[in-house]
Amino acid sequence: MANFPSDTSPNNNSIIPVSTELCAKHMQITIPSPWIQRFAHLVKRDARVLDLAAGGGRHGRFLLSRSSHVTFIDKEVGALEDLEKEPKATVLRADVEGKVSPFSDDGVLQNMQFDAVIVVNYLFRPLLNGLIEVIAPGGILLYETFARGNEAFARPRNPDHLLKNQELLATVAGRMQIVAYEHGVMQTGDIPGVKQRICATKDLVDSGSENDIPPPICSQSNNTEPCKPRLKA
Ligand SMILES: C[S@@+](CC[C@H](N)C(=O)[O-])C[C@H]1O[C@@H](n2cnc3c(N)ncnc32)[C@H](O)[C@@H]1O
Repeated sequence: MANFPSDTSPNNNSIIPVSTELCAKHMQITIPSPWIQRFAHLVKRDARVLDLAAGGGRHGRFLLSRSSHVTFIDKEVGALEDLEKEPKATVLRADVEGKVSPFSDDGVLQNMQFDAVIVVNYLFRPLLNGLIEVIAPGGILLYETFARGNEAFARPRNPDHLLKNQELLATVAGRMQIVAYEHGVMQTGDIPGVKQRICATKDLVDSGSENDIPPPICSQSNNTEPCKPRLKA
C-alpha cells in the first residue's frame, strides 16, 4: 500500500477551493479504495459499470482489468485520455450537477443501465435516487464518501458534500439488499476521514423466497473465485 499525505490537519487559510484540492490529491492516488477492492468479487464478468465522478478513473480502471465494460464520467477528463483506445471503456465529459439531470431524456446517461455503480469521494445529493434507478436487476451499488462529522477534522466541510447520518442506508431502503455498511472515522485507506460506505445489491425482487429475504451474499472473498456461503447446518 502506498503512503498518502495526511488529510487530517485543518487548513482554514487555504485559498484553494475544496474540491480542487481534494481532487488534486485524488489524481495522485491510483490504488482503488479498499472498499471497492473488497466487493469487486460481486461485480460480474463483463458487467456494465458506471464510475461516476471518476477523477483519474482508479476504480473504473480496476474493474476494466477484471473484464468489465466501464463508463467513466467526470467534468474533467484529461486524466482519462489514455482510455480512448480501450475498447471496453467509454469516457463521458459532463457536468452532472447541471440543469439537465444526467438521467433525463436529454441527459448524458439517458436510457442507460448498469450492473454496477461506483461512486467514491463525491456527493451531489440530487443524483442519489437516479443512481439507484440505473442499476439493473441483480446489480450492485458501491458508494463511499465523506459524512457528517468529517467537518470537525478535515475537508470537505460543506454539508452539501457530507452524507447525513444513515443517508446511504435510507437511499437504498426497500430497494436493495444491504451487504455491508459502515459509518465512522476511517484512518486507513486513501484519504482518511469520517466516511460512510455501502455495498448493496438490487436483488430484493428476484430473491424468490417466501419472506422476501434474499440469500446471504459473501461480504469477504479472496477475489478470485465466486463466493459461496459456508453456513453451518
Ligand atoms: C474527490 S474527486 C474523486 C475522484 C474519484 N472518484 C476517486 O475516488 O479517485 C471528485 C471528482 O468529482 C468530479 N466532479 C466534481 N464535480 C463534478 C460535476 N459537477 N460533474 C462531474 N464531475 C464532477 C471532479 O472533477 C473529480 O474528478
